Order: sequence, then C-alpha cells, then structure tokens
Amino acid sequence: MQINPGGRLDPKDVVGRDREIDRYWRVLQRQGLLLSAEPRIGKTHILLKMREECRRGYLPFYQDLEAVHSIADLVRSVYGTVEQSLSTLPNVKAYAAKWSTLLPKKIAGIDVPTADATWQVLLAEAFESLINLADGNTRILMLWDEFPLMLHNLQRRAGPDTVIHLLDHLRALRLARADRLRFLFTGSIGLHLVLRSLREAGNTNDPVNDMASLTVPPMGQPDTRELATALLRETGAVPAAIPRLASEIVKRVGGFPYYVHHVVDQLDQLRRPPEVGGCVRHRRPSRPRSPRPRESQLLHHPSVVVLYRRPAGARPPCP
Ligand SMILES: Nc1ncnc2c1ncn2[C@@H]1O[C@H](COP(=O)(O)OP(=O)(O)OP(=O)(O)O)[C@@H](O)[C@H]1O
Ligand SMILES: [Mg+2]
Repeated sequence: MQINPGGRLDPKDVVGRDREIDRYWRVLQRQGLLLSAEPRIGKTHILLKMREECRRGYLPFYQDLEAVHSIADLVRSVYGTVEQSLSTLPNVKAYAAKWSTLLPKKIAGIDVPTADATWQVLLAEAFESLINLADGNTRILMLWDEFPLMLHNLQRRAGPDTVIHLLDHLRALRLARADRLRFLFTGSIGLHLVLRSLREAGNTNDPVNDMASLTVPPMGQPDTRELATALLRETGAVPAAIPRLASEIVKRVGGFPYYVHHVVDQLDQLRRPPEVGGCVRHRRPSRPRSPRPRESQLLHHPSVVVLYRRPAGARPPCP
C-alpha cells in the first residue's frame, strides 16, 4: 500500500467502497447514473475500481473529461479511449481485433478538429460500432469522470447552444440503445449548476431526467479504519500504536480518504515514530470549501496537528 494523497492509486490499494459499488451496479442494470460528491471524496477511484472489477455483461471505458474543451476533443477522447482500452484490457483481445478492423479508416479519414457538422454522427457511430462488436447482450459502459466540468468548459468555449445540443444528443443515444448502452457520469461541480445556467440561457429541456442521481457518501468507518491502518503500516509507527492512531484518524478525519492519506503522509515525515500525543483540543476538520483544497490549507489540517507527538519536555499545547 502506497501513501499517495491525491495521486492515482494502484487498483489493489483502493480500499472498500464495495457497498456503494454494489448499489451503482444495481442501478446500472436499469438506467444510467449520475454521481456527484464533494471534491476528493473518492469518485474517480470508485470508477476505476468498477472498471477493474467490472461485472459480467459490461464492457467498460473510463474517460477523464477534465481536459475536454470542445466537442472535437470529446470525439477524439472517445475514439482514443476505446482504442487504448481495447489494446490494454485483459480478456478483450477479441474486441480489440474487431475494432481495429472496423474503424481505423473511418477515424483516419475524418478531420476531427473541424468535425463540427459531423460530431453527432461520429459519436453515434462510435457507440453503435462498439455495441455491434461486443458479444451478444454485453452492455457498453462509458464511465465519464468530471462530466459537468466538461460541460462548463464547453459552454465557456462554444456557448450554451452547443452544450444543449450535446446533452440532447447523448440523451437520444441513451434512449435509443437503452438495452446496450450505459453512461455513468461523475462530477464534483454539480451538474445542476450547469443545467441552471443553461436554463437561464433559454433551454427548457431536462436532458438527464432518464438517469438516476446519487451522492457518493464519505467512506464508512470500517473502511476508513482499514485504510488508515494499512497506510500507517508504511510509516515508522510502532505496530502496537497503530490501532490507536488509526482510531484517532477515523475520529478526526471522518470518511475522507484523501485526508487519511494526507494525515498519514504528514506523520510519515516526522523524524520519530508517530503516536497519539499532546492535548487534543482541536475543532473537527471542516469540509473543504474550495473545489480543490490547496496544499497550504491541508498542511494546517487540524488532524495533522493533533497527531503530532509532543517532544519530550515541551510545554503542553493546552491547559
Ligand atoms: N477507496 C479508496 N481507497 C484508498 N484511498 C482512496 C480511496 N478513494 C480515494 N482515495 C484517496 O483520495 C484521493 C482522492 O480520490 P479521488 O481522486 O478518487 O477523489 P475525487 O472525488 O475523484 O476527487 P476530485 O473531486 O478532485 O476529482 C486519492 O488520490 C487517494 O489518495
Ligand atoms: Mg476525480
């Protein structure tokens, strides 16, 4: 287990989330899913775990849409992701071979950056081709991370009409192939904010009302404790001190896995074995206010302070 606050984890280091993931698969059986939650709560790693441990009957493709600023970027991202995933995922060699015979000429022949008029066809053909090459009843599952952020970027770059057009088109595709195509969108900026601004621009549709909408909760206590314990084992902590340290982290940090990594990372940088010490009189950690907490904010996270061991002979920090 690697201490890695904010980084992309190795799939084996993604702890817990089984209950949530089980629920999401059950929803996907019947309809698409929109997941929203505060930043850094673990949305991306939930998607990555779902892709890694994909249920039978689905062929998943993960896309991070944060850097998509135009429809052409989106089209390129879809085709690129499919091509790359099919060549690297285990057990899909047969799909990869079929895809590579189906599409290369089509993609090569299209000038994607100027695909304004053809993007609808390109998107529809990408999903239709995937559906056709997948076995029998296998569903294509598009895991689209940071979907509202992409819409926000598109709206700024290309205006509200383009975004409305895209949302309507995606909805039509979902409904037309409800038997074989699923989307799971996640976002830390609320989709409702993007939709509200589209409504202000005159759009009256509700383009995601065919999808279920759920909020990702913080990690449960047992998972948080398991994560804290596993990470503490990577530090110089004395094994006997780890259960108490882990409990203290669970108590102070709550189920925010990013903060658990961050606190343990800070403890790991102490030049002595960490242990619970000092006088605990700190307020509970507040939830991050800005979309992405800056490192400087996190360095002063109360949990980090609480868990520092008071040096021998030092004055107690509180009466
Ligand atoms: N299930 C997990 N097990 C272990 N660590 C986790 C888990 N989920 C998240 N983390 C830790 O929290 C960090 C943030 O997770 P992640 O990037 O998945 O959150 P997010 O909700 O997608 O954040 P953002 O809103 O910034 O996109 C990860 O880099 C990792 O350190
Ligand atoms: Mg994320």
